[in-house]
Amino acid sequence: MSAPRHYLQFKDLTRGEYEYLFERTRWIKEKFKRYEPYHPLFDRTLVMIFEKASTRTRLSFEAGMHQLGGSAIYLNTRDSQLGRGEPVEDAAQVISRMSDIVMIRTFEQAIVERFAAQSRVPVINGLTNEFHPCQILADIFTFIEQRGCIQGKTVAWVGDSNNVCNTWLQAAEVLDFAVNVASPPGYEVDAERLGFRGSAHFRAFSDPMAACEGVDLVTTDVWTSMGFEAENEARKQAFADWCVDAEMMAVARPEAVFMHCLPAHRGEEVTAEVIDGPQSVVWDEAENRLHVQKALMEFLLLGRIDN
Ligand code: CP
Ligand code: NVA
Repeated sequence: MSAPRHYLQFKDLTRGEYEYLFERTRWIKEKFKRYEPYHPLFDRTLVMIFEKASTRTRLSFEAGMHQLGGSAIYLNTRDSQLGRGEPVEDAAQVISRMSDIVMIRTFEQAIVERFAAQSRVPVINGLTNEFHPCQILADIFTFIEQRGCIQGKTVAWVGDSNNVCNTWLQAAEVLDFAVNVASPPGYEVDAERLGFRGSAHFRAFSDPMAACEGVDLVTTDVWTSMGFEAENEARKQAFADWCVDAEMMAVARPEAVFMHCLPAHRGEEVTAEVIDGPQSVVWDEAENRLHVQKALMEFLLLGRIDN
């Protein structure tokens, strides 16, 4: 049995593989829009393990697997043995003998890495404290759909240097674009730890307006990510000036788009005027989670397909 291919971080796939996946996503999406059944994963089972809440990730993986002809099983920490201390390695052995592909949303990245190391089947990271690769897969597909190639473009990230921000930074390395990150003091990107020190694809800013100047895409995320709720009050104070508003969008390029992985808090990290305004592509971005993940599951299970 050959080793399965996993998707735990954005850098797990090459630029050529992303080019294939984006092409494939377009094909799968068009077929879906024409109501043409496509069941390449007939009889395959996806197990989804959630240790944190979700709307989009659960829905897009579950619906996506059904649409590809397979089935999906939802497990959470609360009512499985995962929440009662069963070792992750044991869970991986058992779950991967009963299924064809696994998606995990959890806390530390080390948990998905440990699971994958013992898994007989592909494992997909559905969000960890460190990364959210499926989100950025959808975001970049959305950018390409709306504005064309992302290579050479600049993204402004305004806010917490969290899992979604870290994944944008990895994506910039793989796909050759730049990310300007503006975070409040104490919440900056740890470039050393993440391996981006000296990178030509990353610039840190203390002023969010400066970070947005001339960029092609402005994006942000909640001030407090899941798992960090105890810091909520301190974060509300620290991030008060890190709200993407019309002034920030006005210094970006006129054709710049606004993205947010959702869920959003209007009046905190973004104004209603921006997220509900003409430059926002958040609903296409959310929908594209479905299409990119269908292409991803097909690729991890069946490899490249030429139609
Ligand atoms: N963006 C995202 O992953 O949303 P959910 O938390 O609803 O899955
Ligand atoms: N950074 C957020 C993203 C939610 C989709 C979190 O981790 O809670």
